[in-house]
Amino acid sequence: MPLARPSVRSLGASRIRELMNAGLGRADVLPFWVGEPDEPTPGFIRQAGMDAIAAGDVFYTHNLGIPELREALARYVSRLHRPVDAERIAVTSAGVNALMLVSQLLLDPGDRVVEVVPLWPNLQEIPRILGAHVETVPLSFARSGWTLDTDRLIEALAPGTRALYLNSPNNPTGWTVTREDQAAILAHCRRHCIWIFADDAYERLYFDGGVAPSFLDLAEDGDRVVSTNTFSKSWLMTGWRLGWVVVPASLTADLGKLIEYNTSCAPVFVQRAGVVAVEQGEPVIARTVERFRAARDFLVAGLNATPGIEAALPRGAMYAFFRVDGVDDSLAFCKRLVAGAGLGLAPGSAFGPHGEGFVRWCFASGLERLGDGLERLRRGMHLR
Ligand SMILES: Cc1ncc(COP(=O)(O)O)c(C=O)c1O
Repeated sequence: MPLARPSVRSLGASRIRELMNAGLGRADVLPFWVGEPDEPTPGFIRQAGMDAIAAGDVFYTHNLGIPELREALARYVSRLHRPVDAERIAVTSAGVNALMLVSQLLLDPGDRVVEVVPLWPNLQEIPRILGAHVETVPLSFARSGWTLDTDRLIEALAPGTRALYLNSPNNPTGWTVTREDQAAILAHCRRHCIWIFADDAYERLYFDGGVAPSFLDLAEDGDRVVSTNTFSKSWLMTGWRLGWVVVPASLTADLGKLIEYNTSCAPVFVQRAGVVAVEQGEPVIARTVERFRAARDFLVAGLNATPGIEAALPRGAMYAFFRVDGVDDSLAFCKRLVAGAGLGLAPGSAFGPHGEGFVRWCFASGLERLGDGLERLRRGMHLR
């Protein structure tokens, strides 16, 4: 029987998908399982995409993206972090493609990769697709917040490790690396020539004020730091599939070759919409952060008022990742919630074994809908 290669065959199927399939066709399910803002892309960004199509802007672009977007992104990243030239930026087909590209750029089969978990499954599977070996360091849960044992992480980053994949603010926990820890991690990785893959997808969805700490604030010329990012969350553009990556200038030409062989370029009219989003989208981000902050506070208070549930206040991203007493099979628990209470949440085990016993709730939603969800959860808690 013809088969795919072993590292693809051994990939886990998405447990969130499995659950969604179980709820498919049921109009009465209130879904909070996918990480997606609840509002469509703002009209002025959509208009820019439509204008580009109307103008016949429908051809291939440079592999690395149109100069206007690379330059707009360079100004944006320089404003948020440290000065970055457009030559260090490549436009990608969203964040997941950015992660695959930088992984293809830097990982060989057999390479050792370290990740802080629980973690968005795609980030765990991408290095495995390429034949890398992934080791994990778990965050610790307390009602006061998720924490990282930095010494344990640094110990795991043994000499010979190829890369650290770090997503902060983290999906699913909302844990956010501190500036102090970042400096210690960077110093260690510098000493041992370990690459840092910083997934900064949620850097603007940060509730402690301003932009979340990024390795781009500390990285100097010659550092092995790449940062991947996306338009999906900050500018409510999940379906457009637009993202970018910041790499050391010495990698840009090789990255361009990889883009040629993966997607050749991001769609040009999507890139045109991206220019408008980056240049005029700050009010969108400010409004979204305030909406999500209110949603987070409401949801976490409601969860903690529910007997048998413990939730920490996430510092960033758009998820509550909470513990449910007595649940040791979160997929089965979530299936019961779908079938018995019409509530769609994501099982913690989808984010690796360290997520077992937890459930993820995307709070990118209005308060009324969240309140309805909480009612359903309270009813569903008894479905054992
Ligand atoms: C941690 C993290 N990184 C990257 C992404 C990429 O999203 P996209 O491919 O839509 O840009 C996501 C999406 O959920 C995410 O949670």
